[in-house]
Amino acid sequence: MIGRNLVLFRDNQGRVNSLLAYCPHRGADLSLGCVEDGKLMCPYHGWKFDQDGTCVEIPSQPHKPVPKFAHTKSFPVREEAGIIWVFPDPNAKEIQNFQLFPELKDSKYRLAPYQAQWNAHYTRVVESVLDVAHLSFVHKKTIGKNSKTEISQLQYSHKEDRIIIYNDGASLEFWYPQQWILKPSVQSKNKFFNYVTFTPIDEEQTLILGYAGRNFVKFIPFLDRIFSNYSLKVLDEDQSVVESQHPRPIPEALRMEAHVLADGPQIAFRQLWFNFLSKEEGKVSLDGHIN
Ligand code: FES
Ligand SMILES: [Fe+2]
Repeated sequence: MIGRNLVLFRDNQGRVNSLLAYCPHRGADLSLGCVEDGKLMCPYHGWKFDQDGTCVEIPSQPHKPVPKFAHTKSFPVREEAGIIWVFPDPNAKEIQNFQLFPELKDSKYRLAPYQAQWNAHYTRVVESVLDVAHLSFVHKKTIGKNSKTEISQLQYSHKEDRIIIYNDGASLEFWYPQQWILKPSVQSKNKFFNYVTFTPIDEEQTLILGYAGRNFVKFIPFLDRIFSNYSLKVLDEDQSVVESQHPRPIPEALRMEAHVLADGPQIAFRQLWFNFLSKEEGKVSLDGHIN
């Protein structure tokens, strides 16, 4: 989200920590290093960093105090629902206003994980899951089998960071910037949902980590594969189209693409994205520091 590479490591307590990926000394990739005594050690000259990015040891001058400029930045991290969440603001002490869809913490559900990586910008990937008009084309063999091509009245709402779309007895809900869930809006005994997160790897690649959740046939583990494979099949149908989109990120002004009524939820997303891009905090300066 902020155009920086991060390194994650577990300390002695098993907690996950996140630092800027490149060592402040000579820029070596800290993810090539190792963890010693719960500290992350750079692979090049062995400098060691603790959870908050403080450099605690410089082996070439063990008896001198560690200078201030040897420290690096850390990011707040949280581990929930089997996923590691990093808040991309190095000035924040902890993740603010973090919320998960309640289904993920509800023990009634069994979660079957799946993942995919697309050569597409994060914004294009998110827009593909907010798109109702593509269902009858891209997903005609799976979830779009019974979808109509005409979208006469699209019901959706957009409030703060949340966009909810009601379509054909299902609801699709997106919590900006990184979570989405698809579930039936009618209550039935057997419940199934599809949950997806979006992680930008760089300008060209996005990682999709998801769970297919169900509250039935919970104790037959090999069924997990069937559910997650189905979700992957649906994603697979999208992949080549979304990877083909140009420009790679969505353009920076609405008028640079043509919008119709069915694109309402995507326009709501674009507003959130444009707001994020023009935010004041978290500016990255040329020397690689985040101010
Ligand atoms: S580059 Fe990391 S210790 Fe020198
Ligand atoms: Fe799709």
